[in-house]
Amino acid sequence: MNIENSCIVIFGASGDLTFRKLIPALYNLFRVGRLGQHFSVLGVARSELTDDSFRTKMRDALIKFEKAEGQELEDFCTHLYYQAVNTSEALDYAKLLPRLDELHDKYGSCGNTLYYLSTPPSLYGVIPECLAAHGLTTEEYGWKRIIVEKPFGYDIKTAKELDEKIHHYFEEHQIYRIDHYLGKETVQNLLVLRFSNGLFEPLWNRNFIDYVEITGAEAIGVEERGGYYDGSGAMRDMFQNHLLQVLAMVAMEPPAIINADSMRDEVAKVLHCLHPLTAEDVKNNVVLGQYVAGEVDDQMVAGYLAEKGVPADSNTETYMAIKCEIDNWRWAGVPFYVRTGKRLPTRVTEVVIHFKTTPHPVFSQNAPENKLIIRVQPDEGISMRFGLKKPGAGFEAKEVSMDFRYSDLSSASSLLTAYERLLLDALKGDATLFARTDAVHAC
Ligand code: NDP
Ligand code: BG6
Repeated sequence: MNIENSCIVIFGASGDLTFRKLIPALYNLFRVGRLGQHFSVLGVARSELTDDSFRTKMRDALIKFEKAEGQELEDFCTHLYYQAVNTSEALDYAKLLPRLDELHDKYGSCGNTLYYLSTPPSLYGVIPECLAAHGLTTEEYGWKRIIVEKPFGYDIKTAKELDEKIHHYFEEHQIYRIDHYLGKETVQNLLVLRFSNGLFEPLWNRNFIDYVEITGAEAIGVEERGGYYDGSGAMRDMFQNHLLQVLAMVAMEPPAIINADSMRDEVAKVLHCLHPLTAEDVKNNVVLGQYVAGEVDDQMVAGYLAEKGVPADSNTETYMAIKCEIDNWRWAGVPFYVRTGKRLPTRVTEVVIHFKTTPHPVFSQNAPENKLIIRVQPDEGISMRFGLKKPGAGFEAKEVSMDFRYSDLSSASSLLTAYERLLLDALKGDATLFARTDAVHAC
């Protein structure tokens, strides 16, 4: 599917996500010819920047993060524009009207507009309302889509309230709730591994699987985001969105066809089957922790309470582990152990499927376990562990491994990163890899 000429309006354009992820993703899409020439990017925030100073800031970020250089970089920057708007003040949005008219005329984008909300979440309900007040949400002149960053609400009540607000001005098909884990090639590969191989399906259930582990470990701390993180914690920052989406990919039923609706139906179904925890279950099935000062790569690093923006008496968890159960025929009785944390010894995101052992140990009491390890990042790949005979006398079994590494595929270097893939999909109008409202509520 080709993308149509369009304008991408980024709210929160002076912020961290814009220069670290969004602009680099757009630049890379431009570089490989996926964006064409008929697009513009209009950055919006309260800071008083001009087109030129915004371009300079973004150029510096591209040089720093993408090692960008030369004519390609200069060409890309000519597509960048900026408009200062007080984003919580409805009247101020009038400034967008002449800018958007000018850009749609210049790039022949006929009103097609993708709004990206990369501001503090308190504005996710406000911006759609202010856009609507100026007629900027109607599709009479070109399509209008809106990408909403995480967190989508703080709990079920606020998530529903936010949905209601956004739905006043945008229809569900126009709303793209981003979860960048769904844009990761290796997360999507979980589906292809499961549903394009006859080998796994007969084993993929409670009869053969003992338990499943899903780990999202990070070596970094909260960095500059202590203010945000402290109101969120590991549970809201990683578990209820990214890791539950991974769990859904592992546990969902095969969709009849791969399209946005049938995929998202299956994801929502499995999330709805997650067994709710009572207060008693929480005591037994959830572990929370917080990192303290220590040494990483021979360097002393601060504990969580000494991080910028974190109150000295904060109780926010930076580590969590939880035992989840899925109440359906496929998974009843199979625990899914999910854990995530910051400042852990190593960075690894992986899914490990532990198969049941043989019914009777013929060779030794410690027969190796059969495991399928799906490494989401880094060193993306898949590894199957099983037992073979240890060379020499006797019949002792030893664990061996059959490995596949993504980097061995010759096409691996041309893979799109998560933000590249998701921005491209939103520009094409493909919502398959975005979270639907019922799944967000279930999470
Ligand atoms: P920042 O705090 O760095 O940026 C926030 C942006 O919003 C700035 O451009 C700020 O610019 C603008 N803004 C507009 N109105 C307001 C207002 N009333 N108060 C404060 N700022 C305002 O945040 P991030 O870029 O890190 O994150 C943006 C969103 O993306 C957040 O919701 C975050 O949860 C989410 N996110 C961020 C990730 C990251 O890695 N950074 C990862 C995943 C999600 P100005 O002050 O000029 O108006
Ligand atoms: C973000 C979280 O959504 O995901 C961060 O807010 C976390 O705290 C990040 O570090 C992890 O993403 P990735 O792609 O590096 O695994």
